[in-house]
Amino acid sequence: MAVLRIVRYGEDVLRQSTKEVGKISSKIKKLATDMIETMYANNGVGLAAPQVGENYRLFVIDVSEENETPNPLVFVNPKIVKKSAPINSYEGCLSFPGAYTNVRRYANVVVKAKDLKGKPFVLEAEDGSLLAKAIQHETDHLEGILFVDHARNRFETNNELAKHELPSIEDDKLLNEDEMETIIQVVEAKASEAEKQKKLEEEVAKAASTEGQE
Ligand code: NI
Repeated sequence: MAVLRIVRYGEDVLRQSTKEVGKISSKIKKLATDMIETMYANNGVGLAAPQVGENYRLFVIDVSEENETPNPLVFVNPKIVKKSAPINSYEGCLSFPGAYTNVRRYANVVVKAKDLKGKPFVLEAEDGSLLAKAIQHETDHLEGILFVDHARNRFETNNELAKHELPSIEDDKLLNEDEMETIIQVVEAKASEAEKQKKLEEEVAKAASTEGQE
């Protein structure tokens, strides 16, 4: 196994499309194991082949916690077949060292792929879990799409990129996600309203208990 060099934002290979993996050859197996090692060496939760300069439809993910047994998942020729419920996701990418920003994702996804033995599997990830977000992030890499293309606020994202000496958003790559954005904002407004209501109720309860003590 070997730790590979990770391509940085700005390098062309991140924008290129990838080809389907045919036979899962020893070369592909080695690439996948090297990608897992590279992901661990960089404390990442996912890594796609284009990020190590290989234009294959292949990525690896491990969302296990530090105190858990490592659980690397290999996705060969993945395809997202279902997605629902837009949400905000605060994320980064190993090709954007140090930069994090708010992007649009779906809370629930169903992905079909093959494992390294060539066995097909279907995986469902829900509730905006790290796994659900990582599957979308990594699948995007295979289409030459980067997380900043889903940025909710281009000014905020560009500030963050500049702070980490990375190139700005490529405006022609920004995705039109107006409908997703509308839904996310409605959900966020409801959550903030519920939060306010809870605080108010807590204050009323506190005031009542203080009164009782006097
Ligand atoms: Ni990434």
